Amino acid sequence: MNLTLRIWRQPNADAPGAPVTYEVAGISPDMSFLEMLDTLNEELLLDGEDPVAFDHDCREGICGACSLVINGEAHGPEQTTTCQLHMRSFQDGDTLDIEPWRAAAFPVVKDLVVDRSAFDRIIASGGYITAPTGSAPEAHATAVPKPAADTAFEHAACIGCGACVAACPNGSAMLFTAAKVVHLGALPQGAQERESRVLDMVGQMDAEGFGGCTNTGACATACPKGVPLFSIATMNREFVRAARKGR
Ligand code: SF4
Ligand code: FES
Repeated sequence: MNLTLRIWRQPNADAPGAPVTYEVAGISPDMSFLEMLDTLNEELLLDGEDPVAFDHDCREGICGACSLVINGEAHGPEQTTTCQLHMRSFQDGDTLDIEPWRAAAFPVVKDLVVDRSAFDRIIASGGYITAPTGSAPEAHATAVPKPAADTAFEHAACIGCGACVAACPNGSAMLFTAAKVVHLGALPQGAQERESRVLDMVGQMDAEGFGGCTNTGACATACPKGVPLFSIATMNREFVRAARKGR
């Protein structure tokens, strides 16, 4: 496949950015999207040019590091991560626009890399449970009912990629935050912080500058892990309950 790439290049957070056009040739349909970018970067390095900076780590859909808007869609045309997207999803001769996540709370670090440490601070504000330390407890010491385990597992699938924020017209992080609140709140081990968790995580989410939810549903459509939209309503109910009850 031969492709035209229009890639957002920006030397740092303070400098202006602009799309730069590159041609790549001989791309295999079986390459991942990141391998296609690797091919471009090898050519840029051979030419003595600055390679395109982009985030990646596991390259198998579990770490959430890869983060590109491709032709206006977070993670591109498939409901998967950018590292699990393959070039067979595109046609020979296509022109691809490749941009970083766009959100005020995710400032650009360089090119396609954005700073997602706002997510870390939301997690640190309340995304944990109180568990006794020491030697390993007996595995069944706290029984987890099957429906609670299923709910927790569905929401624990969130990998913190930020596609929900990038897809949302409000730059809202409510799907991400709700995934953590519902995941930990479903487990008996998470009951102790039920009120403080949702109050603190939503407070931190607002403090980071993420927008509110207006139920467009773009977040759940873009989510590569299928975190359901109704988790936001669950979090809202938890928030109102906690605000009325107090910590
Ligand atoms: S909710 Fe989905 S889109 Fe948002 S950070 Fe988690 S995995 Fe990514
Ligand atoms: S590089 Fe880890 S999810 Fe894509």
